[in-house]
Amino acid sequence: MDKPFNFDEILCRKGTGAVKWDALDRQEGQDDVIPLWVADMDFPSPPDLVEALKNRAAHPVYGYTGASSAFYESLLSWYHQQYHLTLESNDLLIGPGTVPSLGIAIRALSAPGDGVLIFTPVYHPFFDMIRQNNRQVVEAPMDLNGRGRYGFRRETAEQALAAARERGLSVPLALFCSPHNPGGSVWEKAELEMLLDFAAERGITVISDEIHGDFVYPPKSFTSLAALGAYADRAVVISGANKSFNLGGLHVSHFVVRDENLKQSLKAGLKALAFHQGDIFSMIAAETAYRGGASWLAALKIYIRRNIEEAVRYLNAEVPGIRAYEPEGTYLIWADATELIARLGLEDDVEFTGGLEREGRVKLTPGSAFGSRGKGFVRINTACPRPQLLEGLRRIKDWQGRKKR
Ligand SMILES: Cc1ncc(COP(=O)(O)O)c(C=O)c1O
Repeated sequence: MDKPFNFDEILCRKGTGAVKWDALDRQEGQDDVIPLWVADMDFPSPPDLVEALKNRAAHPVYGYTGASSAFYESLLSWYHQQYHLTLESNDLLIGPGTVPSLGIAIRALSAPGDGVLIFTPVYHPFFDMIRQNNRQVVEAPMDLNGRGRYGFRRETAEQALAAARERGLSVPLALFCSPHNPGGSVWEKAELEMLLDFAAERGITVISDEIHGDFVYPPKSFTSLAALGAYADRAVVISGANKSFNLGGLHVSHFVVRDENLKQSLKAGLKALAFHQGDIFSMIAAETAYRGGASWLAALKIYIRRNIEEAVRYLNAEVPGIRAYEPEGTYLIWADATELIARLGLEDDVEFTGGLEREGRVKLTPGSAFGSRGKGFVRINTACPRPQLLEGLRRIKDWQGRKKR
């Protein structure tokens, strides 16, 4: 039987350079904010992963190191075991972190000045990577249904492309977030096929960021764009072990790409920045995670799902004016705080989260970080020991209770 993992244990990360903990409000020397913001988990990685890193670190030569065949094999078997998806090593390219890989793909598959289509709200570095690489954001807003699920419509994407044409933009590329951050929607096969049909009709290559793909809860299941048969040739998947095994400080991702032209362009893009090699520790971490991490991840998902359920229940019952939705995937809760923000007489989600951090001592991500479509929302990261999460939620309740007059 598998050893049980203790996800309730609170590990102090202060002083380790952890962005999640170090970027917190510290007025008057107070150092007590609970961080429920950036998508980073407060859980230690699986024990055998930690052991593998220690073992490698014990060998004191850290020279240039390429990906081993064991690295590719562990990745291929992960796709096979988790998603019944048979890939070949030839379908894979190693990249740096997921976000840098998005930047590399943007540069390799579009030209400066081009438009890049995104479906919003969406993970904010999508905007940043497009703009910082001198491309233009072409935004197709998505709709939220009454159960907190986003949907994208062909007509909206068509309108976005028409508006881009009027601006004189050509749009060769779309970035897609699957599962969706911040909304936690897990896309159905039919939706993905619709997206790829739409893109193929217009000669658009779709880049699917699937970094949250391992965090999908039953009855939903994850479909990678790479699993869509013939469609897969028109898409590039970018993913990695980072979210699933909490390796944000180690930078490794991979591309799944079958089309030879796309592959050559990406290879050239990686080489242009000399990013085609990976680094020792991140490759060992990813390899170990993919080879032996399935039972750890399965246990973690059960734990996080309960965190999500408890948090959604608590927020909806105890914090009037918040409407929290249970995500189909990811460890993030997307909550509509519009009513609460209005009741407290605050301007918007940015003022709300700012006040909550300074006075309520809990940090959330403001929804408008994900584009104007996220205005009035907040994103809550539940990937931490439950006592920490519950304390954070209690502080939200207390703070808004103190503020309302
Ligand atoms: C959709 C998405 N892509 C990429 C990342 C970050 O990936 P990396 O740290 O590997 O660049 C995140 C982190 O939150 C994310 O949510």
